[in-house]
Amino acid sequence: MTHYSFLEKFVNDRPQIKRIAEIGVYKGHLARHLCRKCRHINEYYAIDQWDVVKGKDFGHYEKFDKKHWDELYLRVCKEIPYHRALKVIRMPGVVACKELFPLPKFKEFFDFVYIDSSHHYEETLAEINAWLPLVRKLGIIGGHDYAATRPEHQGVRRAVDEVFGKDRVKEGDDMVWWVEL
Ligand SMILES: C[S@@+](CC[C@H](N)C(=O)[O-])C[C@H]1O[C@@H](n2cnc3c(N)ncnc32)[C@H](O)[C@@H]1O
Repeated sequence: MTHYSFLEKFVNDRPQIKRIAEIGVYKGHLARHLCRKCRHINEYYAIDQWDVVKGKDFGHYEKFDKKHWDELYLRVCKEIPYHRALKVIRMPGVVACKELFPLPKFKEFFDFVYIDSSHHYEETLAEINAWLPLVRKLGIIGGHDYAATRPEHQGVRRAVDEVFGKDRVKEGDDMVWWVEL
């Protein structure tokens, strides 16, 4: 199963998931898929920096210039009228967290935070630590590329295991990971 289908079932099996943040949205494929297929989602915050990433070992993303990222951002914004839950935020994940969802006001605000952004160890660690207090008790934090073999994705598993301990981490299809709080 692809991570799109896996997460569709995952969210639909948990109707208590009504408020989601996705960190790392790219072309908006997952955001569009879940907004379309999971009707009980009330708020879906699609957060991405959509910005140049030169010199950071980002694989093919390093080739994209500002114009290309602007186009991707606008493409996701064009989805807004079709999905009542969709909110699009153009900011780095940790900045969005600190500036738009400050503690203590937004403590335990989200039912599910899904991280699929830089995949680098330091950034993933910083994102998990920033977003974790915003996930409610019995809520879920997770992400993509936990079992990735590409060298530039190795940071995900390291950061996730370091924060939660690998026994707490559950793995789904297509490299999805999650932890129930
Ligand atoms: C693998 S793609 C996301 C794919 C998307 N989750 C999906 O399944 O359709 C990674 C995205 O993370 C974004 N990204 C990288 N570092 C980021 C950061 N620090 N904050 C926010 N977004 C970031 C990139 O701009 C890119 O669009």
